[in-house]
Amino acid sequence: MKATPMNLNRQIEKWLQSSISSTELTKRPFVTLAYAQSWDGSITTRCGEKLNFSCKESTELTHQLRSLHDGILVGIGTVLSDDPQLTVRDWDGPNPQPIVLDSHLRIPNSAKVCHHPDKCCWILTRKTEFGPLTGNAEIVTVNGEDNEQGNVPLVSAMEILYERGIRSLMVEGGAKIITAFLQAHLVDALVLTVAPQIVGGYKAVGDLQSVTGHEIPDITPIFSSQAGEDFIIWGRLYFKGKSN
Ligand SMILES: NC(=O)c1ccc[n+]([C@@H]2O[C@H](COP(=O)([O-])OP(=O)(O)OC[C@H]3O[C@@H](n4cnc5c(N)ncnc54)[C@H](OP(=O)(O)O)[C@@H]3O)[C@@H](O)[C@H]2O)c1
Repeated sequence: MKATPMNLNRQIEKWLQSSISSTELTKRPFVTLAYAQSWDGSITTRCGEKLNFSCKESTELTHQLRSLHDGILVGIGTVLSDDPQLTVRDWDGPNPQPIVLDSHLRIPNSAKVCHHPDKCCWILTRKTEFGPLTGNAEIVTVNGEDNEQGNVPLVSAMEILYERGIRSLMVEGGAKIITAFLQAHLVDALVLTVAPQIVGGYKAVGDLQSVTGHEIPDITPIFSSQAGEDFIIWGRLYFKGKSN
C-alpha cells in the first residue's frame, strides 16, 4: 500500500494509534522499532560513531512518532555516542518518557537525557548499589534472568515499564538494542527510514539465527511512502506462535 507524501504523517498516526489500541497486551507495552538506515542496512559508519541520515521530512516524522508513544528507549551505546535528547522538537506534541538500558551504569551525569526539560529519565540497570546521579534521572534496578553479557533482562524491564504506565514504547536503537528486542520477540511494529546512501557500516540487525527458537517474523501489511529524499516503510510484525 502506498501513502502520498502529503498524507504520510496523518496516515502513519492513524495506523499507529489503531495498532496500539487494537493490540491487547497485559504485561508489556506495545513496542515500535523506529530507526534510520542506509540502503545497505547500516545505521552508522562504525559502532560508536554518529551519522545523521535523515532529511527534514523524515526527522519530523521521527519526532511525530516519539510524540505518539508513552516512552522512548535507547541503549547506553547510543547515549555514549550520540548523546540524544529524546525530546519532540520538530513536531507539535508531548515528550515521551525517556528510558535508557544501562546494565552497568555507564551513563555520565552530563548526558542530555539526564537534563530533560520535563521528564525524569529512567535508567534501567542491573546494579543494585550506586551513588547519586545529578540531573533529572532515576535509577531503576531490574531483576530477572540474565543473558550471557549480564544485560538488563528485557522481559522484566517491559513489565516494569508497563507497571509504571507505559503502554506504548518507541525503541530507537542502536543495533544491539534492536537485535535484542527482535531476539526476544518483543517487537509489534516497525517504522524504517531508508536514506539514499550506501554506507557499508554498522548494521541495524545482528545475529538472530543463533537464538534458540527464533522465528522469522512476518511484516504485514506493508506500507511505504517517500518523505523528502528518504523512503519510509512501515508495518506490523508478527512472530508465529507468539504469546504476549
Ligand atoms: N540510525 C539510527 O536510527 C540510529 C539510532 C540509534 C543509534 N544509532 C547508532 O548506533 C550506535 C550505537 O549502537 P550500539 O549497538 O553500539 O549500542 P546500543 O544498542 O545503543 O546500546 C547497546 C548497549 O545497551 C546495553 N544494554 C542493556 N541491556 C541490554 C540488553 N538487554 N540487550 C542489549 N544491550 C543492552 C549494553 O551495554 P551495557 O552492558 O553496558 O548495559 C549494550 O552494549 C551509535 O553509533 C549510534 O550512532 C543509530
